[in-house]
Amino acid sequence: MKNIILEFKKKRETGIPISVITCYDYSFARVFAQTEIDSILVGDSMGMVIQGHGSTMPVTLEDIIYHTKAVCKGAQNKPIIADMPFLSYQTSVEDGIRAAGTIMKETTADCVKLEGDSDLVIELTHRLNEMGVPVMSHLGLTPQSFNTLGGYKVQGKTPESRARMIQKSKELVDAGAFSVLLEMIPESLGKEITESISVPTIGIGAGRHTSGQVLVMQDLLGMNDEFHPKFLKKYANLAGEVKKAVGLYHDDVVKRAFPEEENAFGD
Ligand code: KIV
Repeated sequence: MKNIILEFKKKRETGIPISVITCYDYSFARVFAQTEIDSILVGDSMGMVIQGHGSTMPVTLEDIIYHTKAVCKGAQNKPIIADMPFLSYQTSVEDGIRAAGTIMKETTADCVKLEGDSDLVIELTHRLNEMGVPVMSHLGLTPQSFNTLGGYKVQGKTPESRARMIQKSKELVDAGAFSVLLEMIPESLGKEITESISVPTIGIGAGRHTSGQVLVMQDLLGMNDEFHPKFLKKYANLAGEVKKAVGLYHDDVVKRAFPEEENAFGD
């Protein structure tokens, strides 16, 4: 029986890094289920890589539930993290409880992820934890706040913002967060937070010393030829492979080389 809190805790204790990948649909989830990947995040990054928006802000609670259901069906053996979308919790703790509860009720996700370190988020983390909903916190570059953060920039570069992030990560852990995702911060800060708190950190652009790493599946699979951020390593050139396969299919159709007799039904 999977349990995300225990599995992450055990990895941290044994010093084995935790691998997390995002996913948004059943077909890829099925494939990921057959790998050693430790966990799957149904991220609000779907706003960009699935829906084609310029940010994560348009993603709705319904979108998260729809995609999380599909991923949960495809990867029943993996702990699934569901993202809480913009405006599903910023309005009040009660709204956040209802949104997180709805995700947990309607999908088989194992936990929710919450961006930010406001008093509301800390209180919500506490309340969700109390009612049995595990929470992953998300600090550093929090894309739902990219407007006030001045864009998609490395965070925690000043001594003040650095000290604040360390302090807030401790407060979130005290409120019950079982893990903290750290996005786009200096490597030294990723290390310091990881050493300062008792739960695993998952980094994206947070350097080499976090307890684990997460990447967006389309990024690591090389689906976007024009996207090359410093933190990314591409493990495949899926865009190239897909273009090649679709080109071959097109040529076959035009040449009447497909379908062949073996693809046709008899009388
Ligand atoms: O929504 C998302 O995919 C994320 C990334 C930081 C991994 O939160």
